[in-house]
Amino acid sequence: MTANQVLITGANRGLGLEFTKQYAADGWFVLACCRHPQSAMALQTLAAAHGNVKIHALDVGDFAQIDALALQLKHESIDLLLNNAGVYPSSSFGDTNYSEWADGFKINSMVPLKMAEAFVQHISRGQLKKIATLSSKMGSIDDNSSGESYSYRTSKAAVNMAMKSLSIDLRPYGISVVTLHPGWVQTDMGGSNALINTQTSVAGMRKVIADLNLSNTGNFIAYDGQAINW
Ligand SMILES: NC(=O)c1ccc[n+]([C@@H]2O[C@H](COP(=O)([O-])OP(=O)(O)OC[C@H]3O[C@@H](n4cnc5c(N)ncnc54)[C@H](OP(=O)(O)O)[C@@H]3O)[C@@H](O)[C@H]2O)c1
Repeated sequence: MTANQVLITGANRGLGLEFTKQYAADGWFVLACCRHPQSAMALQTLAAAHGNVKIHALDVGDFAQIDALALQLKHESIDLLLNNAGVYPSSSFGDTNYSEWADGFKINSMVPLKMAEAFVQHISRGQLKKIATLSSKMGSIDDNSSGESYSYRTSKAAVNMAMKSLSIDLRPYGISVVTLHPGWVQTDMGGSNALINTQTSVAGMRKVIADLNLSNTGNFIAYDGQAINW
C-alpha cells in the first residue's frame, strides 16, 4: 500500500504549517500550497528536510489558479483535501468594512467548495476519500453569546452550511467531509493570548480526521473530539 497524500492550503504558517510538519513526519506525501513559495522560508526548510513535501504556489482567491493546479496534478490521487487557508476580516457594529467582508467571505466560505469541485476526481482516486475544512466555533450560531465579528462569524457559518451540503452530495462517491474547530490557537490569527499551541490543536484535529468515515460524515467537531452545535 502506498503512503497517503494530503493537499493543504495556506501551508506556509500557523496551523497549515503544523499540519504539513505532522503529516510529513508521519510519512504522508504533502502537497503544501501557499501564495508565495519563494518567501515561505519555514515551509522551504521543511521541504528540504522531507522529500515527501512538495510546495505548490496557490492563491486560493484566484479560482483560475485552483483550476490550473488541479490540471497540473491530474494524475495524482489525494487522500485528504485540507481546506486550511483563512482570513479574519475585522468588523464591529458601526464600522463595518463591507469590501473586506466580501473578500473574506470568498476565502473562508466559497474557496472550500471550489477546492472540492476542482479536486473531486483526485479525491475519488484516493484510498481515504476525505475532505476536512477549518471552520471556527465563531461560526456556530448556537455558541454566539458575545456578538460582534460579523464578517468572520458569517463567513464561517456559511462554510459550515456549504460543507454540510457537500457531505450529503459526496456520500454516494464514498467521500466523507468534516468541519473542524481548531480551538483558540497561538498563531498570527489567534494571537499570543490563545489557549493552546499549534502542536496540540493539529494533533487533535488529525485524530478527528483519522476517525472520519461515512458513518460520521457531515459533522462539526472540535480539536478535542467534541461535537459542536451549528
Ligand atoms: N488560530 C485560531 O485560534 C483559529 C480559531 C478558529 C479557526 N481558525 C481557522 O484555522 C485556519 C488557519 O488559521 P491560522 O490560525 O493558522 O491563521 P494564520 O496564522 O493567520 O494563517 C492563515 C493562513 O491562510 C493563508 N491564506 C490566507 N489567504 C489566502 C489566500 N488567498 N491564498 C492562500 N492562502 C491564504 C495564509 O497565507 P499568507 O501567509 O500568504 O497570508 C496563511 O498561510 C483558518 O481557516 C482560521 O479561520 C483559527
